Amino acid sequence: MRLRNCHNFRDFRRMAKQRLPGPIFNYIDGAADDEVTHRRNTAAFESCDLVPNVLRGVNGIDMSVTVMGQKLGMPVYCSPTALQRLFHHEGERAVAAAAARFDTMFGVSSLGTVSLEEARRISGGPQIYQFYFHKDRGLNREMMARAKQAGIDVMMLTVDSITGGNRERDKRTGFAIPFRLNPAGITQFAVKPSWAINYFLHERFRLPQLENHVDMGGGVMSISKYFTEMLDPSMSWDDVAEMVQYWDGQFCLKGVMSVEDAKRAVEIGCTGIVLSNHGGRQLDGSRTAFDQLAEVVDAVGDRIDVMMDGGVQRGTHVLKALSVGAKAVGLGRYYLFPLAAAGQAGVERALELMRMEIERGMRLMGCSSVEQLTRQNLRFR
Ligand SMILES: Cc1cc2nc3c(=O)[nH]c(=O)nc-3n(C[C@H](O)[C@H](O)[C@H](O)COP(=O)(O)O)c2cc1C
Repeated sequence: MRLRNCHNFRDFRRMAKQRLPGPIFNYIDGAADDEVTHRRNTAAFESCDLVPNVLRGVNGIDMSVTVMGQKLGMPVYCSPTALQRLFHHEGERAVAAAAARFDTMFGVSSLGTVSLEEARRISGGPQIYQFYFHKDRGLNREMMARAKQAGIDVMMLTVDSITGGNRERDKRTGFAIPFRLNPAGITQFAVKPSWAINYFLHERFRLPQLENHVDMGGGVMSISKYFTEMLDPSMSWDDVAEMVQYWDGQFCLKGVMSVEDAKRAVEIGCTGIVLSNHGGRQLDGSRTAFDQLAEVVDAVGDRIDVMMDGGVQRGTHVLKALSVGAKAVGLGRYYLFPLAAAGQAGVERALELMRMEIERGMRLMGCSSVEQLTRQNLRFR
């Protein structure tokens, strides 16, 4: 399969599946428990229909948005995701460069495989640092100071991962960092030798955001131990309020779902929230961001930037989210499969297709700017 034959999410997913060893493909593709929430994330967009207006003069289309003080050339951004150099050797470098080319924002994860400083050098565009809350408060402050120093524009604290989700596909393959594959998993690596050659010919796997603080090398600390031993399940609103003050800039909570929590985010001075269920990878059976969006926008949308992610695969999904009131929409697997399939060229093709779909969709909707997308143009079934 060739990149030029990829026309949508499903094509990129298929190409990634051909290239990746099974355990890695399933790590990206999989979700928690029965993956009900994961499936609903995309299905939710089909619970409503767009109602276009015609004859509106739609020559020039302006799809730019301003969110958390950042002007984005398109209303989608690359949400932070872990371990990208495992999917393709270009990893976060590819995503940073592609985001810059498309004039949009991207996130580097705490579990990123390229340093936030290097990503900063690659992209002059808006950059998010995705952060987890550690038991060691000193470490939290140290990491925020490092991010400030690096010129990070938006601090994003993920709050839906107080413990790891039950990812049964990973249990079956033995996927873990460091690798602890079972025989079936090892066989799946053996049948994808080109991935293995590529992986081993490039620089050593690293987690630069954490390596000064956590030993990932000697098997002393694994990612699952990082979650259970270093992150703080007692994290409270007061702790986060302190962080917001300390950061003193654009600060966003990722994984807020309830109206009550959205209001508290406003109270403690956050400038943004991302409604998200972590791509269905955490609490299975939880509501989707799109289903929950209207309620939250109505409650706090005039006081804080409300974004959403989960299941976005089409330009029309983005149009529906913007119509309900999201300020911008996060992409996860939508850019990860293209990354795995073809590195930077893959991410760029995916963003180009997304840009064309949004532009075409806006034109067909009779909207020349994002503000013209409203709930009047949406009907729930
Ligand atoms: C492979 C993978 C790794 C992820 N790693 C992180 C992470 O390190 N931190 C985080 O906040 N979210 C992480 N996410 C969640 C994404 O940021 C985003 O919320 C989610 O992928 C959106 O759903 P979608 O993949 O259906 O678009 C990850 C998602 C995937 C698929």
